Amino acid sequence: MYTLPELTYDYTALGPYISGDIMKLHHGRHHQTYIDKLNAALDDEPELNDIALPELLGRQDVPLAIRNHGGGHYNHTLFWQWMAPQSGGEPTGDLARFIEQKYSSFQAFTDVFSSRANNVFGSGWVWLLPDMEIITTSNQDTPMLLGRAEPILGLDVWEHAYYLDYKNVRADYIKAWWELLTGISLKSDSVVYLCSAQLIRIVAPSAFSACLKTKYPLLAGALFSALRFTEPANMPK
Ligand SMILES: [Fe+2]
Repeated sequence: MYTLPELTYDYTALGPYISGDIMKLHHGRHHQTYIDKLNAALDDEPELNDIALPELLGRQDVPLAIRNHGGGHYNHTLFWQWMAPQSGGEPTGDLARFIEQKYSSFQAFTDVFSSRANNVFGSGWVWLLPDMEIITTSNQDTPMLLGRAEPILGLDVWEHAYYLDYKNVRADYIKAWWELLTGISLKSDSVVYLCSAQLIRIVAPSAFSACLKTKYPLLAGALFSALRFTEPANMPK
């Protein structure tokens, strides 16, 4: 039985960027409805109750009600955590480094992300994945449905997320949302994923070895030995 997650901030706390009226409807009504309908759908499919939601949402064979309402619950649960009052600013650490590697700067990244968000047709989401790719999904579909990893950042561009405050001007909502950004970071499995992706693509062996050696020195040693992987001479120490 899924339940509505409590926010760590008041409905009015995200003003002036997102109003209390929107938060009350968005969290208290829309998110609650996704949960109610997800629970009802799972009542009809008891064999699916023990499967973790991210795994369930990656399956192509789940009933549409679970895909839609389960996605609605999963996506919004994360979305609330990526916002906070008096936030904004740039990520630090590994995430900042990987964003800069891929997009050259955080500002360039936000420009691409915002453009993709603004161009989502109809209702949907824009995501940043652990491999630093930006993708979009329709309705409440998750990246996992596309066979991708769980997102590390996402923006809800359904009209219910902004219409009361910004009417049809989605771009203004997107611009304001960056002022609330908080708490995005790479999980340790994301670092492994990134390292692996870089190895498989063989596009940045030095980045791969530096990355893995920093985070998982024992694993790196064993892997380099097994693969007879030679560290590039210019690898950062
Ligand atoms: Fe939403």
